[in-house]
Amino acid sequence: MKRDPLNVNSGNEFPLILGRDLSGVIMECGLDVKYFKEWDEVWAAIPPWKQGSLSEFVVVSANEVSHKPKSMSHTEAAAVPYVASTAWSALVNTGGLSKDNCAKKRILIIGGSGGVGTFAIQMLKAWGAHVTVTCSQNAELFVRGLGADHVVDYTAGPVEERLGSLAKFDLILDNVGGDTERWALTLLKPWCGAKFVTLVTPFLQNTDMLGIADGMVQNAATVASKVLKHLAKGVHYRWGFFAPSGPALDEIMEMVDAGQIRAVVEDTFGFSEVPQAFERMEKGHARGKTVVQIRK
Ligand SMILES: NC(=O)c1ccc[n+]([C@@H]2O[C@H](COP(=O)([O-])OP(=O)(O)OC[C@H]3O[C@@H](n4cnc5c(N)ncnc54)[C@H](OP(=O)(O)O)[C@@H]3O)[C@@H](O)[C@H]2O)c1
Repeated sequence: MKRDPLNVNSGNEFPLILGRDLSGVIMECGLDVKYFKEWDEVWAAIPPWKQGSLSEFVVVSANEVSHKPKSMSHTEAAAVPYVASTAWSALVNTGGLSKDNCAKKRILIIGGSGGVGTFAIQMLKAWGAHVTVTCSQNAELFVRGLGADHVVDYTAGPVEERLGSLAKFDLILDNVGGDTERWALTLLKPWCGAKFVTLVTPFLQNTDMLGIADGMVQNAATVASKVLKHLAKGVHYRWGFFAPSGPALDEIMEMVDAGQIRAVVEDTFGFSEVPQAFERMEKGHARGKTVVQIRK
């Protein structure tokens, strides 16, 4: 049997390579690839069923890749694709938002100071929405700098009471989970198609604990019961997921090059410092993204 040192053919074998984002240069293209050529500068978010990006070489499908924004360095660009693809999937594919229908919408982002939140604020502001954000007090200036219109400090007492005194929302993006589902759906405009989209779901926990088949049945039962319960109150409940998409990254690249979105890089580490990069992320309290530079 031929050895495969990069493990690219087997794809899913150990050692597991972590990391979803990449920004780099194309070294080689498949014969059917027409849209890209060698030495193109590209960015991508790799799907979770493939080996990750903490590696000198990465194999990706053409439909997962997009040309990198010209106005960003590789370090900046590497901070965007995963959170951008997740926010895009949650807000556009699941939430039904687009640049053409956001103008008069009131959006609440629960947990606005992390990777997904900092991207979502900028995208929604570029599309003209009114954006309210929850975050800790020391992140207020930071999220306002990204465009947030209204900021609620969740560390200063029950956040649901202060949010409840505001006008109701058209869409809520939940990046925090926990007990938010207990109160957040009451903040939506009833009977107007308003949606609650959560990124914090028991999807992986169920499949890890119960196996794929039983886990999927459990997932379907959980989500269906919540959808029906909230539909009876006139609001829509949805689970949001990261979805790799080159075409979505093409649109995001245009927004970046138009100056509507910037990368929020909190920390940069060298490849030999990957353990420290993970320690930083495990501490939580993110203010944007942590980037690993494979080559300086
Ligand atoms: N379903 C999917 O496919 C998918 C994909 C990507 C991410 N996710 C999930 O989405 C969530 C957000 O991801 P992320 O990358 O943005 O995470 P992150 O970068 O770690 O950011 C989380 C942010 O939430 C803040 N926070 C914590 N508790 C909060 C609260 N009660 N109210 C308001 N803000 C709070 C944190 O700051 P402070 O602690 O300082 O307040 C931090 O800035 C994570 O749970 C992640 O697992 C799901």
